[in-house]
Amino acid sequence: MTQKILVLPGDGIGPEITAQASRILVACQARGLDVEIDDGLLGGAAYDVHGEPLPAETLEKAKAARGILLGAVGGPKWDTIEDLAKRPEKGLLGVRKQLGLFGNLRPAITYPQLAQASSLKPELVAGLDIMIVRELTGGIYFGQPRGIEERDGERVGFNTYVYSESEIERIGRVAFEMAQKRDKKLCSVDKANVLEVTILWREVMERLASEYPDVELSHMYVDNAAMQLVRAPKQFDVVVTGNMFGDILSDAAAMLTGSIGMLPSASLNESGQGMYEPCHGSAPDIAGQNVANPLATILSVAMMLRYSLNEPALASRIEKAVGKVLDDGLRTADIASQGTRTVSTTAMGDAVVAAFERQ
Ligand code: IPM
Ligand code: MG
Repeated sequence: MTQKILVLPGDGIGPEITAQASRILVACQARGLDVEIDDGLLGGAAYDVHGEPLPAETLEKAKAARGILLGAVGGPKWDTIEDLAKRPEKGLLGVRKQLGLFGNLRPAITYPQLAQASSLKPELVAGLDIMIVRELTGGIYFGQPRGIEERDGERVGFNTYVYSESEIERIGRVAFEMAQKRDKKLCSVDKANVLEVTILWREVMERLASEYPDVELSHMYVDNAAMQLVRAPKQFDVVVTGNMFGDILSDAAAMLTGSIGMLPSASLNESGQGMYEPCHGSAPDIAGQNVANPLATILSVAMMLRYSLNEPALASRIEKAVGKVLDDGLRTADIASQGTRTVSTTAMGDAVVAAFERQ
């Protein structure tokens, strides 16, 4: 059966990087991948046309798609929109919530060719392979009540950090199952020394552990986890955490790999429908210059093939093509180092497509 793929380029560098990633999808089609590719507006690009970041038409298309490939949303142009509900980021959060994409997988893998590009010593990061499992549709991002209001003559801002047992359990299962397929080590990150919601988080993880006796579960406070990530990152295999801690730790983990421009992600719901996006943002400062790194988005296509389309062979083929291009010394500016050749976004796309075809 032909599956639907929706491409949402979004804002900033989004259109440039999704254009390159789409070429890989088309190359997969030529090798038998049975998909129909459509596109849509999200974020600031949608706001400019429809006055809202997640138009009904985009949501309909997203619901019907097996896989969504997203570039990035947001930028200074829209930072002054007063109504927070109309900001580009709300478009992204809306798709996550409406499709129930609670399971966010963010692999931080240091390609040996890029160990030099990390801000950490190469020996600390060479061979690094961490999977961050971030809860994506709950926690403080979505908790009610929230707002800014007048209290006792001054303005007060407030949010609610809330998780139900069932929400913790379902992300916990994703993480335990992920650990079973890897090195069988799971570190749950919380702030159980201060926050009740994460005391519950820890309890639920403990309870689940008895169902996965082959997985070694440990716990770490989030402040310590941030420190350990830059002190000795290779101690981690799978990390599971809530929405906000996961947002922060995954950016830190990204830099270990050399550049945030290398990190793909998958956001999945219970039926395996998923949205795939680079972990980096819309980088408005370099938008339109043909210098952005398209590799995180290209690697996101590989994740889509693996997790939503059940095409592991094509996924590996893309990953190998990326490795080959790095072996050949091609780099976009963000990962350039001495002795490498700096290329544009489109030239990087050309090289990956060519390496994909050659295999
Ligand atoms: C991410 C981003 C988003 C988030 C923003 C753009 C809303 O930082 O995907 O990590 O905070 O989840
Ligand atoms: Mg983030």
